[in-house]
Amino acid sequence: MNNFTFYNPVKLIFGKGQISSIAKEIPSDARVMVTYGGGSIKKNGVYEQVMKALEGRTVLEFSNIEPNPHYETLMQAVEIGKRQEIDFVLAVGGGSVIDGTKFIVAAMAYEGEDPWDILAKREPVKGAVPFGAVLTLPATGSEMNSGAVITRVSSKEKLSFGSPYTFPKFSVLDPETTYSLPLRQISNGIVDAFTHVLEQYLTYPVNSPLQDRMAEAILLTLKEEGPKALQNPQDYDTMANIMWSATMALNGVIRVGVPTDWATHFIGHELTALHGIDHARTLAIVLPSLLRYKSEAKKEKLLQYGRRIWGVDAGTEDECIEATLQATISFFESLNISTSLSDYEVGEDTIRTIVKRFQERGVRDLGERADIQVDDVEQILMMSL
Ligand code: NZQ
Ligand code: ZN
Repeated sequence: MNNFTFYNPVKLIFGKGQISSIAKEIPSDARVMVTYGGGSIKKNGVYEQVMKALEGRTVLEFSNIEPNPHYETLMQAVEIGKRQEIDFVLAVGGGSVIDGTKFIVAAMAYEGEDPWDILAKREPVKGAVPFGAVLTLPATGSEMNSGAVITRVSSKEKLSFGSPYTFPKFSVLDPETTYSLPLRQISNGIVDAFTHVLEQYLTYPVNSPLQDRMAEAILLTLKEEGPKALQNPQDYDTMANIMWSATMALNGVIRVGVPTDWATHFIGHELTALHGIDHARTLAIVLPSLLRYKSEAKKEKLLQYGRRIWGVDAGTEDECIEATLQATISFFESLNISTSLSDYEVGEDTIRTIVKRFQERGVRDLGERADIQVDDVEQILMMSL
């Protein structure tokens, strides 16, 4: 096992009726900005619950944070937040609202010239306005990590940042808030969380049986609960299990002491930036090809994954790996998520654009062995056509 330091200060408040507890978590004299998206929280009762919990405080609202949150929009919130001397921000929504809020709180405290540098130049974040979250969409793990992915519309870039200052102070996870989710978003969430686990698990062995089995526990839970969620999206226990799985998939626990890949995410962000394809769907497009392309380097873990998650154990190693990849693809497709670029009407032009962008940005050394170069990215995407 590799050396590691584990740090995660997020207070997680899980279960039915827990939104009211934010009253105890936010200082009573705070000037609060509540951030949210396009209005789903006004239709499902979450907004009322939040506002009731905040009664008596100075509260300002910033709405219309888009899916794949836009830098341009978030900078308006930064402006308002500074002007209004906001000292606590509460994000209410999915990964986009929480990610967007992480950028807002970091940019509000940023002392450099241009907050875009936090993303484009990876300028270090040296402080942030404190914030909390009420999660309404189990998927990204943003509620219990310090990372965020932000899109700049003007240049069609989607870039990430992270900092010890951008962990939420607390996150409320009430599975009942997910009852209003469209099936498309439930499927997205399952595939996103599943891929988060695979990016931290399907690498090479470092004798880490505990991390492996924790990762496998999340994969098996998503495999079992995912189809149930699509059948019965208002079943409390099913949605609770999915919500907790998605959080555990990317809160840092399964990553400790093991190599991680993240090339699928890195490449997938370009497909969202250029074509607006939902984040999880970009992963379903890239992951199978990437695993096939790197199957020799990932052989031991692929065989273990196939055996323990999909019960694949007959045939040669190559046959087992192929059966494992097919099982993964079938799982994604059973959740109504297509896995080929052509299903999204994306062709070779886009692959050329991505290759050019990566060359210009000097992208190199992706993957757990830092051996995926731009030429490899091109071949992986060609395999996804
Ligand atoms: O905007 P509203 O009206 O709230 O509607 C949203 C949005 O249209 C809707 N929604 C959310 N909760 C709902 C609901 N609709 C009905 N009922 C509810 N309870 O769902 C739509 C999608 O929301 P969004 O927040 O965009 O989805 P998701 O949670 O999948 O977040 C995706 C973003 O997170 C980033 C992605 O790149 C993408 O930008 N990620 C963040 C990560 C992180 N911070 O660690 C890791 C991930 O790999 C990912 O990259
Ligand atoms: Zn993801």
